[in-house]
Amino acid sequence: MINYDCSNKCYTFPKGDISTFHPAKPDVIGILGYYLLDAASILPVLALNIQPNDLVLDLCAAPGGKTLALLQTGCCRELAANDLSTSRTRRLHDILHGYLPQELQKVVRVTSWDGRRWGELERSTFDRVLVDAPCTNDRHSLREEENNIFMRMRKGERQALPRLQLELLVAGILAAKPGGEVVYSTCSLSQLQNEYVIERAVELLAIQYHIEVQVEDLSYFRRLFQSTFSFYPDCRFGELVLPHLTANFGPMYFCKLRRMS
Ligand SMILES: C[S@@+](CC[C@H](N)C(=O)[O-])C[C@H]1O[C@@H](n2cnc3c(N)ncnc32)[C@H](O)[C@@H]1O
Repeated sequence: MINYDCSNKCYTFPKGDISTFHPAKPDVIGILGYYLLDAASILPVLALNIQPNDLVLDLCAAPGGKTLALLQTGCCRELAANDLSTSRTRRLHDILHGYLPQELQKVVRVTSWDGRRWGELERSTFDRVLVDAPCTNDRHSLREEENNIFMRMRKGERQALPRLQLELLVAGILAAKPGGEVVYSTCSLSQLQNEYVIERAVELLAIQYHIEVQVEDLSYFRRLFQSTFSFYPDCRFGELVLPHLTANFGPMYFCKLRRMS
């Protein structure tokens, strides 16, 4: 649960307590007080390490949980929140209206473009970019029958995911300024959607664009959050939160890249 008042408060129940939070209620000026999300979803936002006055791009933003967390840092000079799906972008609008005071809504620019084209549209522009990519959404896919990505009729779409993820990550890196930082995240356990995408993006940017990209070390997240999350210890790049009976969050993969040139 994120409490939206620019002071970065996040709450979870103590370990072993599986109660559910009550839905948020509007306060006296009609603003909802908190947003419920998987606690591991906050980690990619923290990894992005937004600094005061940063220009930020949230390339796959809807429905908007991480967008709110990015704004909650209180540091974004401007936040471009984009999502290809128009119906999900409508939900993003609703969430922004429900949670943000009027003056903060001006900080956000919402669009519904194909994120793969962002490198052509606004190249070398942003201090920070979040690429929270579409993925097999493993927790949801285990529990929900409806529109499940593992259905036979969605096989082609599923197989095309790593390419889509790669194209989105490359576009996100191209949209970052030289020296800018990019976080790639998924809620999948699949190496093909996680580390493989990172590896290919670094190669592709070097070969096609002569852009050097460095993968940053995030292992300190394991030390900082070892009492809350269960981390997979052997990722080659980035960090992966594994759902565990004693820490039922995730899966959440996140990896940070710095565009060097
Ligand atoms: C994992 S969800 C994002 C969740 C969101 N960041 C949040 O925290 O609420 C991935 C999103 O990517 C969007 N998407 C899929 N293909 C896209 C594309 N080509 N360009 C931009 N967004 C895309 C989907 O519509 C979906 O909303």
